[in-house]
Amino acid sequence: MRKTKLAAGIIAVASVMAVQSAFADSHIKKYKIEDGAIKASLTGKTGDAAKGKKVAINRKKGNCLACHAISDLKDQPFHGNVGPSLDGVASNYSEGELRLRIVNAKTSNEDTIMPAFYKVDGYNRLIKKFKGKSVLSAQEVEDVLAYVMTLK
Ligand code: HEC
Repeated sequence: MRKTKLAAGIIAVASVMAVQSAFADSHIKKYKIEDGAIKASLTGKTGDAAKGKKVAINRKKGNCLACHAISDLKDQPFHGNVGPSLDGVASNYSEGELRLRIVNAKTSNEDTIMPAFYKVDGYNRLIKKFKGKSVLSAQEVEDVLAYVMTLK
């Protein structure tokens, strides 16, 4: 009798763990949106601006220059103009507003073509290899944000 209960308990715990690990695969952490911002760091820490600069430039990662000009990166060959220049953007928005913009720009503008960098579902413009994955990890979002915060 006891043994069966124990076995049932183990099966229940195991199945909960299986569900959790299926979610853990996506690496998406929960975040809270308030007043048009994600105020808390996704990692609990401030990102690294030097690393974030590389993520912003990297065509397979942030690729921010595909759509935005950034004077600080004028050594880089191509700057798009689909989006506004990011010069001075940290003076116009709070850190939390910029975090939300990077995580999911669609929350402020449903029709934006700016990709949601920290989101698993609902892409319409991303290539297949990103399916089921966010483009940037939580750490990369925080690093890019730390870099964007230097654009005053
Ligand atoms: C495919 C094009 C595209 C890419 C790639 C892109 N953005 Fe954007 N972004 C836009 C557009 C277009 C806007 C204008 C507002 C809107 O559509 O929501 C915008 C707006 C913004 C804004 C608000 C600027 C303002 O002055 O209002 C920030 C900040 C921003 N993007 C940061 C980034 C960062 C950081 C990256 C790289 C991680 C990035 N974007 C990549 C298209 C893009």
